[in-house]
Amino acid sequence: MSLSSFSDRLLVWFDEHGRKDLPWQQGITPYHVWLSEIMLQQTQVSTVIGYYMRFTERYADITALASASLDDVLALWTGLGYYARARNLHKTAQIIVKQHEGKMPSTLDGLMALPGIGRSTAGAIMALGYQQRHPILDGNVKRVLTRYAAITGWPGRKATEQQLWHLAEQLLPESRIEHYIQAQMDLGATICTRSKPLCSQCPLIIDCEAYQTGNPTQFPTPKPKKAVPLRQIYWLIVRSESGLILLEQRPNSGIWGGLWSFPEFDNLADAKSFYRQNFGLNQGVLLPQKTIRHIFTHYKLDIFPHLVHSSVCSQSITDFESLAWHTRNDALRLGLPAPVKAFLKLLE
Ligand code: ADE
Repeated sequence: MSLSSFSDRLLVWFDEHGRKDLPWQQGITPYHVWLSEIMLQQTQVSTVIGYYMRFTERYADITALASASLDDVLALWTGLGYYARARNLHKTAQIIVKQHEGKMPSTLDGLMALPGIGRSTAGAIMALGYQQRHPILDGNVKRVLTRYAAITGWPGRKATEQQLWHLAEQLLPESRIEHYIQAQMDLGATICTRSKPLCSQCPLIIDCEAYQTGNPTQFPTPKPKKAVPLRQIYWLIVRSESGLILLEQRPNSGIWGGLWSFPEFDNLADAKSFYRQNFGLNQGVLLPQKTIRHIFTHYKLDIFPHLVHSSVCSQSITDFESLAWHTRNDALRLGLPAPVKAFLKLLE
């Protein structure tokens, strides 16, 4: 028994399971395909439906959209997000009216020359709106194809993307292009889902290479994580005999802006020389405390606290405007970074 082609199996599946009653699948024109594809770019089908209905009711064609004010278009877009999409839609409608007599271009290049229309959206307009043999490569289709052919490499990489476009071209059927493209999107949305694909219901299971690895969700390869930089700082925690603690108010800009912290240094030598200059050469030793790791969005911070008991409560130190002595309890009422507060609480 020979296996029918990728596209034949997808089309058979589509006839039974594909979505055919979405509003943009009724009375299809290139304008309606364009509008729905833009709305669906970062937004779920269920959210888009209402917006699409209101939009097409208000702007029945490209000319109507082009003669609307941008404010009105944006008002109708409110809540959909990514407003550059609405601005480009409006701008493109005006270009089409001025330069293409109000008719959507019918070539891939002509479409891609317009604001907000990339290769995949142009492909969708060509296939769904003009029934021309062009592939698309939106997020769903990328997932289906990377799995089907077990393509490694993050799909955002140029080389991987080129490989995917090439495969997408090769798999195109000779006929029923519009159903085939919709089938790919529907399979990605309902069967070949990101985290729990329903492989047993998939028409491509027999020769899906990702399925054969036993771990289909390892495809597509995730975006490489940037290494999170690690910063290291030294805290000098000076405690006087009477129990006062030396704190420093941080500059208003930068991390922990305006909060009170312990005097901070880039290295231990700087911490020591600051201490000796202000408290005398023979005053106490710096006792290393447990390292604190603090995670910020963009970097990790390793804090090396060093505690020193000073028999004097240096007055000259308060010549520094940002430095002040506080009791532990007073200190706990100041604005403090979380690790400073935690450290003070532990301090006996
Ligand atoms: N996402 C992008 N295009 C779509 C379409 N035509 N139908 C359903 N979901 C989509």
